[in-house]
Amino acid sequence: KMNPTILAIESSCDETSAAIIKNGKVLNNIIATQSVHKKYGGVVPELASRAHQQNIVPVVQEALDAAGITKKDLDAIAFTRGPGLLGALLVGTSFAKSMAMGLDIPLIEVNHMQAHILAHFIDQPHPRFPFLCLTVSGGHTQIVLVKDYLEMEVIGETQDDAVGEAFDKSAKLLDLPYPGGPLIDKYAQNGNPEAFVFPDTEMPGLNFSFSGIKTAFLYFLRDNKAKDPKFVENNMEDICASLQYSLIRMLMQKLKRASNETGIREIAIAGGVSANSGLRHELQRLAGERQRHIYIPDFQYCTDNAGMIAMAAHYKYLNKEFSPLDVSPMARMKM
Ligand code: KG4
Ligand code: ZN
Repeated sequence: KMNPTILAIESSCDETSAAIIKNGKVLNNIIATQSVHKKYGGVVPELASRAHQQNIVPVVQEALDAAGITKKDLDAIAFTRGPGLLGALLVGTSFAKSMAMGLDIPLIEVNHMQAHILAHFIDQPHPRFPFLCLTVSGGHTQIVLVKDYLEMEVIGETQDDAVGEAFDKSAKLLDLPYPGGPLIDKYAQNGNPEAFVFPDTEMPGLNFSFSGIKTAFLYFLRDNKAKDPKFVENNMEDICASLQYSLIRMLMQKLKRASNETGIREIAIAGGVSANSGLRHELQRLAGERQRHIYIPDFQYCTDNAGMIAMAAHYKYLNKEFSPLDVSPMARMKM
């Protein structure tokens, strides 16, 4: 069948999501965000699994209803196999497997990181192959050379923390609630990015490191708070703007280098941190140089969602890449 209807499920971290794709068009993208983690300052894996178990049936039903179909209309069930939290992945995987078995239709496993990139094919305009994708999320920071829908090569990546993690951990040091990335972004918009200077960590090639800046930020706050207990309170906007500027500068340097070295001018970004307004702004500037084309997905497809899983599943279906019913989730999974 060349115009399949597929149900896709995402449960790798703290969003339970379901989407329906029909004939390559994402019809809906239902997302239940878990709020239980807020008071712990980070995702608690046990609580994530439990919330997925509570959310998955209503979220899937909502996606079917929104598409005006029933499960009998489905041609395949897709799910995120990894990477992610094992207990969280297990909920989506088990659900997808039993549904595929019950309906006697194919099962399609999807790599979460590939899906973040394929989110670019949900709406127009699409990047043209080959393109570079900077994938920046709470768990990953990669530069990917995308040769085709399902043919991707990681050409640079972080050797320690992900950039989203650097945002979130820094926000925690500022006593901001989890996830702090969007809040740093919000304060940064009214601050001076040159108020404070944080050193870049030089890494060879196209790789990144974000653990150094996190430590530098810790000492910066400790020293300044010792001198002035109200330092953070009085300088929140400048602190956030300066920190954000440093993090984005490190991303942009390597992305520019990747573009120059490969000669590829089609550039996309993906993952939760691509929602960052400072990064979006810098990318627009990059687009102004050397006839580069920049692609930024719609906001709802930047952070974790099943729409992107559905898009990836569509291409895998056309390629007849199906999974056996005894497939198990993988916390670590290569592209
Ligand atoms: O892709 P995602 O939803 O989940 C993972 O797969 O990790 O990314 C979540 C990450 C978090 O670290 C969050 O703080 C960050 O994306 N994030 C942002 C912004 N929006 C989300 N970081 C900076 N600025 C933002 N506007
Ligand atoms: Zn993600």
